[in-house]
Amino acid sequence: VRRIGVLTSGGDSPGMNAAIRAVTRVGINSGLEVFGIYNGYKGMVEGYIEPLTRETVGEIVNRGGTILGSARLPEFKEKEVRQRAINQLNKRGIEAVVVIGGDGSYRGALSLTEMGVNCIGLPGTIDNDITCTDYTIGFQTALETCVEAIDKLRDTSNSHHRCSIVEVMGNRCGDLALWAGISCGAEIIVTSDTGFDEQDVLERLRDLDIIKKKRHAIIVISEKITDVDQFAKKVSLNTGFSGRATVLGHIQRGGSPCPFDRLLASQMGEKAVDLLMQGIGGQCIAIRENKIVSIPIQKALSMPSESRKPLMNLFERLV
Ligand code: F6P
Repeated sequence: VRRIGVLTSGGDSPGMNAAIRAVTRVGINSGLEVFGIYNGYKGMVEGYIEPLTRETVGEIVNRGGTILGSARLPEFKEKEVRQRAINQLNKRGIEAVVVIGGDGSYRGALSLTEMGVNCIGLPGTIDNDITCTDYTIGFQTALETCVEAIDKLRDTSNSHHRCSIVEVMGNRCGDLALWAGISCGAEIIVTSDTGFDEQDVLERLRDLDIIKKKRHAIIVISEKITDVDQFAKKVSLNTGFSGRATVLGHIQRGGSPCPFDRLLASQMGEKAVDLLMQGIGGQCIAIRENKIVSIPIQKALSMPSESRKPLMNLFERLV
C-alpha cells in the first residue's frame, strides 16, 4: 500500500481531529502518502480529496469538530454510488481508507472492502453506542460537558426547590445519561434500558419531596424518550417541585477533546494504519479492557450490547 485516505462520517465528535492527525502522521512516518477525503462519503463520491501533510494536521490535536467536515449519505448503500466513489479513489491511486464514524459509517467501510478497497473503521461518536468497544472517541469529552452543565443546573435548582429535567444525547444508547447521572448525583435516570413510566417517576418525585425532604431533584433522561418540556409541566402540576427542562443538545458535540479522547484517537489511528499496511481491511478498532484491538466489522455490527445493569444497580444504591 502506498496511498491511503482518511474521512470522518456521521455526527462529529471531539477527538476526530486527533484521529485524523494520528492517521496522517503515522502514515507519512511509515512512508505512505495520506489523502483527506472531505465531507465523509459524499466527498469520496464527488472527488473532494486533497493530500494531507504533517503541517495540515498541525494545531488540531486539541480542536473539537473535524477539519475534514462530515456528512451523512444514506445513498451510499447503493452499489452504483459506491462504485463512483471507488472510481474517484482509483483515479488518485488511493488503495485503502480509514473511516472515522459510527456504525452507519462502518457499514459503508465494510461494503467498500468487499468491493476491493480495504477500509478500517474507527469509532468516532459521542454516543458510545458501538458495542464492540468499551469507549468511542468523543464519549468522555461529551460526558465532561454534560457533567459541567448539570453541576451548574444543580446550583440553581437547589436554590428554588425545583426539579431539573436534563435531556442528554445518545441516539438510543443510555450511556451518556447513565454515566452523567451517576457522576452528578442525579435522583433519577431514564434511558431506553430503564424505560419510562411517567406515573412512577412522578411518584418518586413526590416521595423525594415529602418523605425525603429533598431541596431539589435532578432527572437525567436520554433523548428520543419523551417531550421534556411537556413532562416538566406535569412535574409542576403533580409534585411539590417546580419542573424545568433543559435540552443540552449539540453543545455536547463540541469543545476541545479531553486527554483520554486524544490519546484513544491517537492509539486507534496508529493501529488502523498498521493494519492497512499489512493489507488488512474490513476491521474496526476498539478498546477492550484497556487494550487496543481490531475486530471484523461484520462481527462488530452484530454484537449484542453489553448490559449496563451493574452501573444501574450502583446508581440505585447511591440515591
Ligand atoms: O450520533 C451523534 C448524535 O449527536 C446523536 O447523539 C444524536 O441523536 C444525533 O447525532 C443528532 O444528529 P444531528 O446532528 O444530525 O441533529
